[in-house]
Amino acid sequence: MPEMAPVGVFDSGVGGLSVLREIRALLPRESLLYVADSGHVPYGEKSADFIRERSHRIAEFFIERGAKALVLACNTATAAAVADLRDRYPQLPIVGMEPAVKPAAAATRSGVVGVLATTGTLKSAKFAALLDRFASDVRVITQPCPGLVERIEAGDLMGSDTRRLLAGYVEPLLAQGCDTLILGCTHYPFLRPLLQQLVSASVSLIDTGAAVARQLQRLLDADGLLAEGRAEPCRFWSSGDPAAMQEILPTLWGDSARVDRFPG
Ligand code: DGL
Repeated sequence: MPEMAPVGVFDSGVGGLSVLREIRALLPRESLLYVADSGHVPYGEKSADFIRERSHRIAEFFIERGAKALVLACNTATAAAVADLRDRYPQLPIVGMEPAVKPAAAATRSGVVGVLATTGTLKSAKFAALLDRFASDVRVITQPCPGLVERIEAGDLMGSDTRRLLAGYVEPLLAQGCDTLILGCTHYPFLRPLLQQLVSASVSLIDTGAAVARQLQRLLDADGLLAEGRAEPCRFWSSGDPAAMQEILPTLWGDSARVDRFPG
């Protein structure tokens, strides 16, 4: 039964677990496969060609396991590879993600929006097109955040190094009047508790994990592919250190699970 096939979800590392959580909450009957490409993290500082090659490798792995849909739980991989993947697999529902410029432009009262994202996302043509389309009436200040993804991969969500790094990125945005911050990388929602300590309650923090889960639901529904039975337990692979990911899973995913080595 094709509707009982799994959905493959991937990111450069553990950041996409913030999206996987939204998918599990909205679609609890879906069986989920997750690949963290932590052996090659961060994608944000890599070339688009390299990210496309990794994305194809991971997509093939999911397809070998019978996946009925793919989710690029990574803004950087979406900017680099989603068009290529859609060309290669025209029949497959593929969900990508991009920084929440449209909802942020609608939400800001000060008219100044900050975007925290990777260098790769911010310099992509896709992001430029997104600004052209939705941000003509607001001032958008972009802030690449090198080093932040590595802190999250290390499981340091609240420590002093992470706090210093994050404060250095966020404070200039606040000083310029941002009242809305876009979390444009799937790792950053894990820093919400720390961010909430650094910004006042009047600053909105926006990410697109829940919207991605809803888009997956729409695409599966349109193809008659929504699962109706019981989900298999989620399976995890890492191209980095599976034991390290296994240790951090209870914090980021909310449950313990085995993590296998990604073969490639
Ligand atoms: N989590 C990723 C994103 O949404 C990329 C992080 C990275 O590897 O640089 O952009």
